[in-house]
Amino acid sequence: MEGGIPGCMPEAVVALTGASGAKYCVRLIEALVEHKWSVRLIVTGTGAINLDLECSMTPSELASMNGVILEDNGNLAAKSASGSARFDAYVVCPASGTTIGKIAAGISDNLATRSALVAMKERRKLIIVPREAPYSTPHLKAMFNLSEWGAVILPASPGFYNSPESIDDLVDFVVARILDQLDIDHSIGRRWSGEEVPLED
Ligand SMILES: Cc1cc2nc3c(=O)[nH]c(=O)nc-3n(C[C@H](O)[C@H](O)[C@H](O)COP(=O)(O)O)c2cc1C
Repeated sequence: MEGGIPGCMPEAVVALTGASGAKYCVRLIEALVEHKWSVRLIVTGTGAINLDLECSMTPSELASMNGVILEDNGNLAAKSASGSARFDAYVVCPASGTTIGKIAAGISDNLATRSALVAMKERRKLIIVPREAPYSTPHLKAMFNLSEWGAVILPASPGFYNSPESIDDLVDFVVARILDQLDIDHSIGRRWSGEEVPLED
């Protein structure tokens, strides 16, 4: 994707919220940086707990890659809290049911939820990567509404048809789908060609 702002690197706002699956966010940020996107990273309190539990990392460590700026989730004066500040896309990865419910209810009480409401009001790309099993009815209804209102609901549900051999392969599957949504020309994972299952004579 060409940056929405002429002459600038494309910029994504990425929020790591309190659902399991912090690894998806780590890999997403690595991929965005590799593809020369700048990233504004928001980590919620429970997001930081999961980042530590699952990846043994702090938000500052995650933000140490070139081109990544760590935002304070409590700072409602940060760049992505304003519609006048341009960014190309907002990805909530992983997205907790709480954050999803708040966004669908129009609540913007922290930078993660405010940035989503800004993306929606400015008609920018909003990608939500939920992780929960099973889903509760309120969260399903919230996701249905968000989808109707233009958000992409891209669950952290990797496919198995490409014979994954490692957790990294499963993570890559989901990250590849997010990059597809961002129109990033990437080579993560193997794409289905249609020739994997031979036709019977
Ligand atoms: C270790 C841990 C794992 C969690 N996993 C999930 C999860 O997979 N999905 C989910 O929707 N909530 C999960 N939660 C609950 C959320 O973290 C909780 O609802 C929290 O309020 C989310 O706030 P946030 O969206 O501001 O991060 C988990 C909480 C903890 C402590």
